[in-house]
Amino acid sequence: MKKRPDEQVSDTTSLRDKIVGLSESSGRKSYYPMLQQKIRELQNEISERWRAENTLRQTLARISRQQAVMAEISTDPNVFHGRLRDAAPMITVKMSHALEVSRTGLWIRQGERFICLDKFDARYDAHSSGQILRLEEFPTYHAAIVREVVAADNVYTDPRTMAFASSYLAPHGIESMLDVPVQIEGELAGIISFEHTASPRAWQPDEITFAGRVADQVALIMENKRRRMAEERLREAHAELTRNFRFTEVLLDAIPIPLFYKDSNLRYLGCNRAFTEVMGVSREEIQGKTTRDLWPDLSPTYEDNDRYLLRGAPRSTYEAKVRDKDGSLREVIFAKQVFFDERNRTDGIIGSFVDITERIRSEKESQRLRTLLSNIINSMPSMLIGVDADGRIAQWNQQAASVTGIDEDEARGKPLGQIVPWLEPEMRRIRQSIADKKPFFEGKLRRIVDGETLFEDVTIYPLISNGVEGAVIRIDDVTDKVRIEDVLVQSEKMLSVGGLAAGMAHEINNPLASIMGNAQVLETRLTQPLPQNAAAAREAGITMEALRTYLELRGIPKMLLSIRSSGAQAAQIVSNMLSFSRKSDAALVPEDITAILDKTLELASTDYNLKKNYDFKKIQIVREYEPGLPMVLGSASKLQQVFLNLFRNGAEAMGEKGYPEGQGPLFTLRARSNPPWVRIELEDNGPGLEEPVRKRIFEPFFTTKPVDKGTGLGLSVSYFIVTEDHSGVMSVQTAVGEWTRFVIDLPAAPRRK
Ligand SMILES: Nc1ncnc2c1ncn2[C@@H]1O[C@H](COP(=O)(O)OP(=O)(O)O)[C@@H](O)[C@H]1O
Ligand SMILES: [Mg+2]
Repeated sequence: MKKRPDEQVSDTTSLRDKIVGLSESSGRKSYYPMLQQKIRELQNEISERWRAENTLRQTLARISRQQAVMAEISTDPNVFHGRLRDAAPMITVKMSHALEVSRTGLWIRQGERFICLDKFDARYDAHSSGQILRLEEFPTYHAAIVREVVAADNVYTDPRTMAFASSYLAPHGIESMLDVPVQIEGELAGIISFEHTASPRAWQPDEITFAGRVADQVALIMENKRRRMAEERLREAHAELTRNFRFTEVLLDAIPIPLFYKDSNLRYLGCNRAFTEVMGVSREEIQGKTTRDLWPDLSPTYEDNDRYLLRGAPRSTYEAKVRDKDGSLREVIFAKQVFFDERNRTDGIIGSFVDITERIRSEKESQRLRTLLSNIINSMPSMLIGVDADGRIAQWNQQAASVTGIDEDEARGKPLGQIVPWLEPEMRRIRQSIADKKPFFEGKLRRIVDGETLFEDVTIYPLISNGVEGAVIRIDDVTDKVRIEDVLVQSEKMLSVGGLAAGMAHEINNPLASIMGNAQVLETRLTQPLPQNAAAAREAGITMEALRTYLELRGIPKMLLSIRSSGAQAAQIVSNMLSFSRKSDAALVPEDITAILDKTLELASTDYNLKKNYDFKKIQIVREYEPGLPMVLGSASKLQQVFLNLFRNGAEAMGEKGYPEGQGPLFTLRARSNPPWVRIELEDNGPGLEEPVRKRIFEPFFTTKPVDKGTGLGLSVSYFIVTEDHSGVMSVQTAVGEWTRFVIDLPAAPRRK
């Protein structure tokens, strides 16, 4: 075993001791051999001391070389600037130089692998790099190097390095290895390696120390670089953050919707430009404030919602009010949402709002207009039906509902022809009108409802507003109007015909009176035994008896009778005709109209003429008299005449009709108040009136009956009695095959107090 040089230096005293010992122990007998022995010992000692000094000198030289190398490494510009990769070839060369080894290397860790930055082989003055070392493949070495320096004087016997033997050490002729860990913050970040070839080598402490310092230096470079990179990253992150922040600010300002954001204590962090402009507060003014500071009266609603969000709701929308920069309250919809910090904790609230004041106002206005419009439409007495281009119902007013008995919900969407079947024949023209965008009018469309004829005007207004195709159809019930027109036309006609007939009657009256008078005289003079007649006969040379015989033989008295009765008939007609124009003198007094009706009915049932044709008793009578009816102003006898005519006609007409089993003739008498009239209706369920008959029914001499049965004067006389004598109205309604109804309005008498 070698002795360390310093131990040998401290041995100087023992040498002196040895010399003193020599003097003390010098005996006569063995002095010289002892001396020789001593000298040999001394010589040995001297040479050993020389060797020690030499070793010391070598060590010192090594150390100073190491120091020089260390200085060179640390002042290299690449090292100074932390460029380890660039510095690596220099470092390995210096390492080789400093420890006089043939192979050196510098490895750094990347993930789980170690990559060789530079490997230097002094024997060939060659560099290489890029080799990869996976430590997990060499567990013993791995376990050692993470903790300590691996100084293997003999790599083939050292358990830490044995594993490398066949694959690495032998091929390169490596005998000794000195591997030092590069550690940063206790982590293995790299390895520097010294490999001695050709002969084993004992690593000296100073060499191990030097290797450690190189490793430290490498660690320093790496750490610097890491720090600089971290700083760089930080700077970049900061710049990125600033960029993001600026972008966000501009983005927020570019949004025309007011936006604001608050921290989790509900203090404003900021807002965008739209918010500033609408609310009249600057970003600085609101920062750090709460809604309670800014808008105390409105704050509770805001706070409630903010709390709701902070309790965990991800977002909320609600309607509320804000006070704008002019101090006026606006209706808005808020939309709020929480935002989170980097650890996903609620960090605050971001919110926006949209002004809906105008929308609400216009909604209210349009609602009001809609209501108004539908009120107007519904209050119209016309049926109003909106249809789309396909003729499907889109609008349906109340009148339409009440006429058809189908309500709006049921009608909507259905084809018009299905819901309003009587328009079906018009559908082609309706579609045409929609297509041509031309209004269409069809007046007095006739339809029968429960046997009664209704008249309707149908008008179609195509919708020509842009985009909307369809039409509004208006249907007006003009039945009453048509009836009034009828009555008017009737009365015009009757007036002229009546005037004509009355004029004629006057003209006929005088000659008829003369015919009648002379016929009377003729009869008297020819048949009566008067003295003047006898005297005239004597004078003529005949007797009255002979004359009577002659007259009898020639049938003269019968002729005279016939002249008289025909004259009487003509007179009756004439008298009827006269009544057409002349207002009767009969005084109008309050009469109980139902009493007159009943009395006339009684009369009719005993009427001989009627009985001839028909048994009035077989007719069923239904009375519908309104109680408490006012009196009418009238002449009882004249009205009786009117009703008798009507009963007669009705009975005759019903007599012509064949009734189905279980049915028979029926008169319905109605009387009701119809201020200022009292309305009387006489309805029979006879054959009804064909249109040509209905039109002419009141005309004088209009009859459908054979000459001996009817004169066609009954209704005309009645008409004039009602209209002229009573200033009333008379008209007829009918359903062919079903019924005929005469309607008479007579003025009601003023009620007695
Ligand atoms: N109730 C009735 N039903 C059917 N037809 C009627 C009715 N009343 C009147 N008429 C028709 O009106 C015509 C005119 O009647 P009217 O003036 O009384 O004359 P007349 O009875 O002499 O024919 C009748 O011929 C008949 O055709
Ligand atoms: Mg008649």
